[in-house]
Amino acid sequence: MTPERITVGVVGASGYTGGEACRLLLNHDHVARILPFSRGKEEFETVHPNLLGCGLSFVSAEEVLERRDLDAVLFCTPTGEAMRAAKGLLARGVRIVDLSADFRFRDPQIFERTYGKTHASPHLLTRAVYGVTEIYREAIRSAELVANPGCYVITALLGLLPALKSGLADLSAPIVVSAVNGTSGASATAPEVSHPAATGNMLPYSLSGHRHGPELEDQLGRLCGRPVHVLLNTTHGPFARGIQATISLRVKAAAGQLLSRRAFLDIYREHYGKGLDGEHFVVLNDRPSTGGLNAKEYSLFPGVARVCGSNFCHIGLDYDASKERLNIVAVTDNLVKGAAGSAIQNMNVMFGFPETAGLRHFGI
Ligand SMILES: NC(=O)c1ccc[n+]([C@@H]2O[C@H](COP(=O)([O-])OP(=O)(O)OC[C@H]3O[C@@H](n4cnc5c(N)ncnc54)[C@H](OP(=O)(O)O)[C@@H]3O)[C@@H](O)[C@H]2O)c1
Repeated sequence: MTPERITVGVVGASGYTGGEACRLLLNHDHVARILPFSRGKEEFETVHPNLLGCGLSFVSAEEVLERRDLDAVLFCTPTGEAMRAAKGLLARGVRIVDLSADFRFRDPQIFERTYGKTHASPHLLTRAVYGVTEIYREAIRSAELVANPGCYVITALLGLLPALKSGLADLSAPIVVSAVNGTSGASATAPEVSHPAATGNMLPYSLSGHRHGPELEDQLGRLCGRPVHVLLNTTHGPFARGIQATISLRVKAAAGQLLSRRAFLDIYREHYGKGLDGEHFVVLNDRPSTGGLNAKEYSLFPGVARVCGSNFCHIGLDYDASKERLNIVAVTDNLVKGAAGSAIQNMNVMFGFPETAGLRHFGI
């Protein structure tokens, strides 16, 4: 039976995604108790001054992991931690959402190749459900272990999904994903992404192969039932949070079909629906284009700042007939829809709570 209100442990609660998880859980009607764990010695409200007055305190690992009334744990830790603790928690019936990459691949060899670590619990990989709620909602309902996706990956997947499902994608050409992430995407302990290095600057990185590349290809392969190649370019931009993924996908019309921006907007509208009748957290920017070769039309595309603080993904698109390419812009807050917000959305589905519980705010 689903409890009315639950106790949630947050491991890695001193970090960016852990702090964000606590912020969101504090507004959650079905969460009775939050147990934030940090190995450090500082006070919770000193580490997270945005939550001054919230009344939370860090608790010991034992208090989180051995508590009898513990219902769920969010692991907001570096890759390699959740895989060690998961088995014991699952045996006690505690449900887990892991924000790291520990359970994102079904094949331990892909994990090991991508992360350079041996997997400590490979037998759990097939028990984990991949946590894009909009794709795997039914499986998440009965999941005991959810692998929250990488922030670049969920942004690109939500941007691509209707186009891929339409059958109009020409997958013989690689999909190009050029993504800019806020500096918080590098975690709280990345000295090379300091204020002086990032302000007024762009920091491209991992262009020889970002870890989210194999994850994105793995997921796209599962969705399309065939190998899909992606060219993923990643950069940190001079802002703290938010991801903009600009995606270019080759498309091919079926016989007698005329492709246009409007035709793709219809496909996206039909796939995601609108508001509570559709996917609440995925919003299509479907303003009409006034056209014209040199019209810049900034209003057709979403702005990354507009989703910050929220669990929304905003999507805009245009069709380049001369190149037969669908160009999509998808934006999320890397710490919310890209991390803690999705984790709570998944937790809500696992416990049968309203999917928007704790996540009702719009962007700032
Ligand atoms: N930042 C993002 O945009 C983002 C988005 C999606 C997913 N993720 C994933 O989410 C996880 C957390 O990312 P983050 O950005 O929040 O990192 P972070 O700011 O560095 O926080 C991670 C926290 O984990 C704790 N920790 C570190 N090593 C640990 C260990 N060996 N055992 C237990 N706890 C440990 C630390 O807390 P204490 O030292 O206080 O214990 C630290 O504050 C990562 O796996 C990351 O890949 C991040």
